[in-house]
Amino acid sequence: MVDKKQSSRTFKKNILCIGGGYVGGSTMAVMAYKCPRYKVTVVDINRDRINQWNSETLPIYEPGIEEIVRATRGKNLFFSADIDKAIRDAEIIFVSVNTPTKNFGTGAGMAADLQYWEKTARQIRDASDSNKIIVDKGTLPVKTALAMERILTATKDVQFDVISNPEFLAEGTAVRDLLDPDRVLIGSRETPEGIRARNEIVEIYKNWVPEGRIITSDIWSSELSKLAANAFLAQRISSINAISAICEKTGANVTQIAHAIGLDKRIGEKYLSASVGFGGSCFQKDILNLVYLCRHYGLNEVADYWEGIVRINNYQKERFIFTMLLTMFNTLVDKKICLFGFAFKANTGDTRESPAIYIAKRLAEEKAELVISDPQAIENAKKDLADVDGKMRYVEDPYEAAAGCDAIAVMTEWNLYAKLDYEKIYRAMAKPAFIFDGRNILDHKRLFDIGFNVFPIGKPKLSHFRER
Ligand code: UDX
Ligand code: ADP
Repeated sequence: MVDKKQSSRTFKKNILCIGGGYVGGSTMAVMAYKCPRYKVTVVDINRDRINQWNSETLPIYEPGIEEIVRATRGKNLFFSADIDKAIRDAEIIFVSVNTPTKNFGTGAGMAADLQYWEKTARQIRDASDSNKIIVDKGTLPVKTALAMERILTATKDVQFDVISNPEFLAEGTAVRDLLDPDRVLIGSRETPEGIRARNEIVEIYKNWVPEGRIITSDIWSSELSKLAANAFLAQRISSINAISAICEKTGANVTQIAHAIGLDKRIGEKYLSASVGFGGSCFQKDILNLVYLCRHYGLNEVADYWEGIVRINNYQKERFIFTMLLTMFNTLVDKKICLFGFAFKANTGDTRESPAIYIAKRLAEEKAELVISDPQAIENAKKDLADVDGKMRYVEDPYEAAAGCDAIAVMTEWNLYAKLDYEKIYRAMAKPAFIFDGRNILDHKRLFDIGFNVFPIGKPKLSHFRER
């Protein structure tokens, strides 16, 4: 059915994206929406994913994406599992396959695992019989484009121009970020062919992004900009989290500090929310990538500097567990603890590197019983914790989840958790009842008045127990 509609239109160019995950899927949907004269095809080795993109239940939860897919699918946006054919048909190929942190061999736990990416490069080469522009969309270690060029040009007499176009979207706000990006960065070789290819990509974005926000650079600067942007953002969170630890010792309030420093225009107010720690598929992976790169070049001091951000993030998660343990009378054995949220941030079902995974594992180690609640991430949570020993239940309804529990730990800043009827929740919990607000989203004074013992991040605790 889709093919018929496809052939009945002539498009200016055929764009392909290999990898239909969070980045590939959302980016291409918006590109198709904004560029009706281009035909956009997304392929993936995971057939289930493709089937889901072609169904009413999309494979990712992302506010606004359904409407955009509905408006474009079957018109100029197509999802297919026939990768070779799609490669042959395309003039421009975006590559958005996953590059997780390597978990084996040299560089394990640090370097990017490039196996999926390299397979894609070889598949592009083997299936191509005409010139193509290849655009790296994923987060890749610096100089990956060069490796891609080498693989692509190893056998054939076909010209491939490799471009770096890192994606800066954040999950949960992907559609907004794509429709109205702060900037689009396009890096290429500074040769006549490289610049020609780069201009083709600029042409696509000019369909909706103001020209002043489309910036170009050499290819390595583009690749390194992506790592640097994520490192800077994560650094802000680790910085405010480090301050939150001092606040908890001294009685200062981290929210007030963030407000006071954020008003300084040189600092700015964003990414200063103290939390149980940052998660997501990018921050830790990209910093570790950067650290690996620095060590490779013998820049050990620089590597240590950036690695400190991940160390503080791990420390913040462990500090959260320590506070729970200390406050709940130094034992969590058989205590029932409800996690409000499992996604790595609000408005997504994604749990990759979510701090909730670490917290759940540690609580299970302490032999606590867990009840896990989340409006979108329960299925992912079940997979993440499949190998963890311990008593665990998954309950979407937060009232039902918290009933009978000794403590609630807020892991994700879902708006819904700020709006619950906490008097009702308190009545149904074991006493004394504790709340550990890992996102500082609740009304702590009010919770205290209801009867809870409240432990925010980086703010004075509100406890009904008398200090001795
Ligand atoms: C990030 C970058 O923002 C994006 O530009 C890049 O393309 C991919 O990586 P993402 O991981 O989707 O995006 O989400 P982001 O909103 O940046 O949040 C990352 C983590 O930091 C989340 O766990 C979030 O809860 C946490 N965070 C964010 C804080 O703890 N405090 C803050 O102030 C901001
Ligand atoms: P991101 O958040 O960066 O988009 P995801 O893991 O959500 O990461 O998406 C990456 C996608 O790339 C997955 O759907 C995966 O199946 C797909 N993929 C990985 N390797 C290949 C490949 N060789 N060919 C096609 N798709 C691939």
